[in-house]
Amino acid sequence: MATNPVPDHVPPEMVRDFSLFTSPGMAPTPNGDPHAAVACVHAGPPIFYSPFNTRDGRGTWVITRARDQRRVLQDAETFSSHRSIFASALGENWPLIPLELDPPAHSVFRSLLNPLLSPKRVTVFEAAVRARASTLTERIAASGTSSDVMEDFAFPFAVNIFLRFLGLPDHRLDTFVGWANDLLHGDDVKRPAAARTIVAFIDELAAVRRKEPADDFMTFVVQAQVEGRRLTHEEVRGIGVLLFVAGLDTVAAAIGFDLAYLARNPKDQEWLRREPGRIVVAAEELLRAYPTVQIIRVAKKDIEFEGAPIRKGDYVSCATMIANRDPTEFESPNTIDLARPDNRHAAFGYGPHRCLGSHFARRVIVIGLEEWLARIPSFRIKQGTAPITSGGHVFGIENLILDWS
Ligand code: HEM
Repeated sequence: MATNPVPDHVPPEMVRDFSLFTSPGMAPTPNGDPHAAVACVHAGPPIFYSPFNTRDGRGTWVITRARDQRRVLQDAETFSSHRSIFASALGENWPLIPLELDPPAHSVFRSLLNPLLSPKRVTVFEAAVRARASTLTERIAASGTSSDVMEDFAFPFAVNIFLRFLGLPDHRLDTFVGWANDLLHGDDVKRPAAARTIVAFIDELAAVRRKEPADDFMTFVVQAQVEGRRLTHEEVRGIGVLLFVAGLDTVAAAIGFDLAYLARNPKDQEWLRREPGRIVVAAEELLRAYPTVQIIRVAKKDIEFEGAPIRKGDYVSCATMIANRDPTEFESPNTIDLARPDNRHAAFGYGPHRCLGSHFARRVIVIGLEEWLARIPSFRIKQGTAPITSGGHVFGIENLILDWS
């Protein structure tokens, strides 16, 4: 692993060997559980510096207490969301919207997009979600006693539904999932190539919808007005790319992590099969235990934070997986209790940027688990296989082969 320079202002005693990325010789390991890899950080200080914790060769401060993370995420005056993480892969500098905007612009765009992802819109869509899940699980049950879950179910279910929700062409699902995979988990060649392809796709879609409006999200965006004006080309692109990328991997990964857990814990699996009414609460606990999206902010000014000399421009990581295993917030945080009461986990973030797609994600995950458990008998990880999980800003899972022979 390359050793990134530690900035001069970081005291050497505050530096730790820690990374949320999957790298040889560093936790989390490719075949390990990247979530469990962070369970030990709470025994240490409230903040430390990791030289390895981003993809772009820069380190981050790592906040280890959920309470302190909330302070950071509420304080957009000090900690900015503007990172251009996607555009920088192209050597450009434009924000994903609303994710990388700060106030006051953030709330203008957030209000614009809220109705697109409201609970009401999700409810209207539920019958289609269930129909898709039941078709796929029926097909899987009829075709044998084992399944490559990510390929046969999690992606074709969650991403198909997501594309239809946005009014995007679902026959290109495999292509889109491939782009997302390269973007989120690919190397330094695949990542910028995927970013370029996605931008070209969104730009073209916007151009088509300007000429031929339809009843879909891109038409909504190109026709939208903020503060009495149409959106700029860059704003349309920033929204289009974010919404497109946000749903291509996240929900499928959550379903994968959930089914991997249930495969390894047959008692919990049987309990949910017997009492499907418990799945809504159980899914929250699995989101707590296996959150997939990590959060980073950039310091806008110099500040002392819990004894750490954070300087303007430093990255500050508020990893949801660290917050979700904080023993001061959750009793026995490393025990998965599918009936955990009052589960205020951070899987969807906190504060002004809290996930806009959380209603959609929750319903798709719950319906997916309900339909899977209703049709697939007692399952386990297929002998001789092991799911492969990957770290990074968005965690992934692949090669989840389940067996019920
Ligand atoms: C299990 C699935 C998902 C998880 C765990 C998740 C998690 C998150 C997290 C942690 C944030 C906050 C990021 C930050 O503060 O910097 C976020 C923001 C966001 N998510 Fe999700 N997400 C999921 C699914 C989705 C889906 C399916 C969509 C779209 C349909 C979506 C749309 C968004 C948007 C638009 C934002 C930005 C909100 C803002 O900046 O105001 N997410 N998500």
